[in-house]
Amino acid sequence: PEFISVANLGLALNVKLDIFVQQLEELGFEDISKESILTGETAALVAQEYGYEPTVDIGEDEDLKPRPPPEDPTSLPLRPPVVTIMGHVDHGKTTLLDYLRKSSIVSQEHGGITQHIGAFSVNLSSGKQITFLDTPGHAAFLTMRQRGANVTDMVILVVAADDSVKPQTLEALKHARSAKVPIIVAINKVDKDSANVERVKSDLAANGVEIEDYGGDVQVVCVSGKTGQGMADLEESILTLSEMLDIRAETDGMAEGWVLESSIKPIGRVATVLVKRGTLRPGDHIVAGRVAAKIRSLRNEARIEVDEAPPGTAVEILGWKEPPDAGDQVLQAPNEDKAKTAAHYRQELKERAENIAQQAEQDRERREKE
Ligand code: GTP
Ligand code: MG
Repeated sequence: PEFISVANLGLALNVKLDIFVQQLEELGFEDISKESILTGETAALVAQEYGYEPTVDIGEDEDLKPRPPPEDPTSLPLRPPVVTIMGHVDHGKTTLLDYLRKSSIVSQEHGGITQHIGAFSVNLSSGKQITFLDTPGHAAFLTMRQRGANVTDMVILVVAADDSVKPQTLEALKHARSAKVPIIVAINKVDKDSANVERVKSDLAANGVEIEDYGGDVQVVCVSGKTGQGMADLEESILTLSEMLDIRAETDGMAEGWVLESSIKPIGRVATVLVKRGTLRPGDHIVAGRVAAKIRSLRNEARIEVDEAPPGTAVEILGWKEPPDAGDQVLQAPNEDKAKTAAHYRQELKERAENIAQQAEQDRERREKE
């Protein structure tokens, strides 16, 4: 596709520039300025908003696209819920995660030392599974959100019983609300003498959280990451909410997911990928951002090699020539050729966008001099 700067598009649509930028923000563009570069495709959509019927030639599209949403999601198999733990500093997020992680290791046949991979799955005695995400780097989270990805199905909002609602509690609430992700409240540290559960509840209610005890539908669970008290109830609440949300995905077809983390380890370039649709297996060809890869192996959080990663699970993927970025979408390609073409095409798009941005910058500087 061709590219156009916001400034030039505003000119073409005959809208005053500062008003145009403001209207783009209202249309849902984040971090937009007059220097921002839009693809022809996006520009055409914007032009339509202004009542134009644009004809754009977006060229031969060699990109890889996600599949269209399923026609009848209710007929798909259930998948494990993906859960993110959020809350104020020191309220016990890591302690809760560690507790859950340990219980997941113990329940794994091979056991062993865990390694932090940004996500892990807990196998419950009922045979059900829950996938927890470590509170990921904000940047990656934001990138995924901007691309409309709801990586997480629900948020566990951790509030310390001895400290109650604090600024980052409200921050987390804001995030969950804007992403339209339902929450479960975990009142933590209830083992402490200074715990005051009722105060937490009324503080939450005062901040618009419609908790069950007050007639709402937000579940509240009292837990202790230290003693393990209430942890089974927390898992139970997660499953209850999952059932209500009816979380399903295709296990077949071209897989889709998101890069949660990416790093270079002695064993090679490794990315933790959360699979959202389809199933990834060794030998599959995938593209993440501008990087193509043939999956060499998949490992779970205990570093055990697995044959497949079905939807709702996170795995480490080995086999990258270059590390992908956290926040990149992962798409499976039907073959190596398609994967490489798409990666190459994206690289070219980026270079062209950079050239145009550079050109726009030079134009601006020139105008300023004149
Ligand atoms: P940040 O990552 O810094 O935001 O903190 P966090 O939310 O991950 O809290 P963390 O798990 O590190 O816990 C903070 C402190 O509270 C640690 O000293 C924990 O040992 C303690 N703590 C966490 N959970 C409990 C609990 O259930 N009971 C008691 N008594 N202490 C807890
Ligand atoms: Mg922590």
